[in-house]
Amino acid sequence: MNRDLEIDLVKRALGQASTSPTAADAGPSRRPVADYFDPQRFTEEQQALFRSYPVVVGHTAQLSEPDSWFTHDHSGVPILVTRAADGELRAFLNVCRHRGAKAAAQPCGQSRRLTCRFHGWTYDLEGRLRGLPQPEAFGEADRSGIGLASLPIAERHGLIFVRPQADGGPIDLDTVLGGVSTELEDHRSERHVLATRSWEVDCNWKVLLDNFLEMYHVPLLHGSNIGPLFRTELCHFEPIGHNGRRIDPRTSFASLAALPSDSWRLRDHALLTYFIFPNLQTFWTRDYFSWLSVWPIAPDRSVCSQLIAADWTVAEEGRQAHLQANLDLFDLTLSEDFGVSEEVQRGLACGANDTVVFGRHEAEAAAVHTNIDQALARWRRGVPADAWPAPQG
Ligand code: FES
Ligand SMILES: [Fe+2]
Repeated sequence: MNRDLEIDLVKRALGQASTSPTAADAGPSRRPVADYFDPQRFTEEQQALFRSYPVVVGHTAQLSEPDSWFTHDHSGVPILVTRAADGELRAFLNVCRHRGAKAAAQPCGQSRRLTCRFHGWTYDLEGRLRGLPQPEAFGEADRSGIGLASLPIAERHGLIFVRPQADGGPIDLDTVLGGVSTELEDHRSERHVLATRSWEVDCNWKVLLDNFLEMYHVPLLHGSNIGPLFRTELCHFEPIGHNGRRIDPRTSFASLAALPSDSWRLRDHALLTYFIFPNLQTFWTRDYFSWLSVWPIAPDRSVCSQLIAADWTVAEEGRQAHLQANLDLFDLTLSEDFGVSEEVQRGLACGANDTVVFGRHEAEAAAVHTNIDQALARWRRGVPADAWPAPQG
């Protein structure tokens, strides 16, 4: 992170700097509860935000070697991402050209060929069909020059974006990342993926998102674990176009006020998070990087996916225990988040409330809902949901 920005952010969170008025300063806002269960709305969100919009499906460190690949199913579209011997990153629909089974059935691997487990059609990592059992059973046209269907892909700052739609246009990361791109530039040192995990939760995907986008609930819901670690009243959110940055100060943060600003190191005293529209929240702590992403399955069912990466490996002394302690803490807090999110979904669906209300400490969640509305409105007009207008001024 740019040093001037880092110092400025510490000042803002300490209340020592005036900030320009932003959406975060807006008053409380309300959303209709129907947004969380209406089937029509769900279908539109799925199409506009998880089919035609570029979404992050993996981290660069997952494909650091040539001839490596991983699969991804959370968007609802089977995706295969490869880095072939030529070093190029490619994405395909993970669908065999024979009769539609997955070309790669495993989560990840390192190999030059992928063999469909149904009848054995074999592809290279550039997606070309390279062989099949008993080829004489097929006509020349059925087996020559065919390959897996390509998907648009782009990679920046360790994030691998795919547009899960075969006929989708190229991905413009300058627009998708917008103003956060320059800030993410300084946070791309993670070379090792330490863990990937996912959970299915009985709630709308936005209920989970709302939860991850505010710290207001942390002192109480997570009071027996991470609650006492943070000064949630000092949290500072700033929208950056349709994405955003939040600083979650730890209890040690206030001590910075007594120290000279040239000694300030934000990540030693705060969690730094960036939200990448529509569904990814990245976290940088002192010593590792993590993300949580949420994906819709049904109006009342979602997947939460986590990745943890770092510049160190568990082979280093003490690191395995350190990683495990962090995973255990995530397990504990996420089980609390998932439990209350399922409760919220039932509460919203029973008709007790017409709206939910977001206060000033939930400004990030409120801003994301506004951006979802705008992306849906574009998509309904036939304009790509990721065609964000250029920033003013
Ligand atoms: S479906 Fe893949 S080989 Fe038959
Ligand atoms: Fe939480």
